[in-house]
Amino acid sequence: MSSTLSQRAAKALQQRREDGLYRHLQSFDLKQSQLSKLPSQDSFVNFSGNDYLGMAQDQELKMAWQQGIDRYGAGSTASPLVTGHSSAHQLLEEKLCDWQGYERAVLFSSGFAANQAVIFSFMRKNDRLLQDKLNHASLIEAGMMCEATMQRYQHASPDSLSKFLDKGDVNAASLVVTDGVFSMDGNVAPLSDIQLGATIMEPC
Ligand SMILES: Cc1ncc(COP(=O)(O)O)c(C=O)c1O
Repeated sequence: MSSTLSQRAAKALQQRREDGLYRHLQSFDLKQSQLSKLPSQDSFVNFSGNDYLGMAQDQELKMAWQQGIDRYGAGSTASPLVTGHSSAHQLLEEKLCDWQGYERAVLFSSGFAANQAVIFSFMRKNDRLLQDKLNHASLIEAGMMCEATMQRYQHASPDSLSKFLDKGDVNAASLVVTDGVFSMDGNVAPLSDIQLGATIMEPC
């Protein structure tokens, strides 16, 4: 790294410290979804994790992971379009399609990657991307980086969305994107009202 970049990093870190925003990593060897005991022996209930359904410690699931690693190894060894699409991926895709009633599914290793892929794949210059103001960072970040013009309507407000839909270039290809359940507040998007204002994207 050049000295200019090192100096920039050092300056940014110093600024974070001065603003009281410098963050430290803490390591936990504890089971996330359970009542956790920290080294100080104080008890905490963990409301900060993403293991909402407690699946990380589910016995059946843990065994399935172990069996899967024995059978397939610890990685797919390639991207899907080369040689990384195993019979297990194929089976999962078919089960998801069966369950959700779609012809095809695309698997991603994280929600973050899936959200970014949808926005980058569909949006082009002069398109309109309308997002709920409180959408997950993966969506907002993709919106800022893609070629389309992004506008953010008021949180969970179909009225605010319609105002955006009615102004500007109404003939531009438009994509409305909302979280289903907002992960920070736990509230649910008014999907049926949003659907009235915009046409739901049909599967290809
Ligand atoms: C609404 C929402 N979208 C996307 C993500 C990102 O998913 P992942 O952690 O699988 O990358 C999260 C993660 O908490 C989320 O809550």
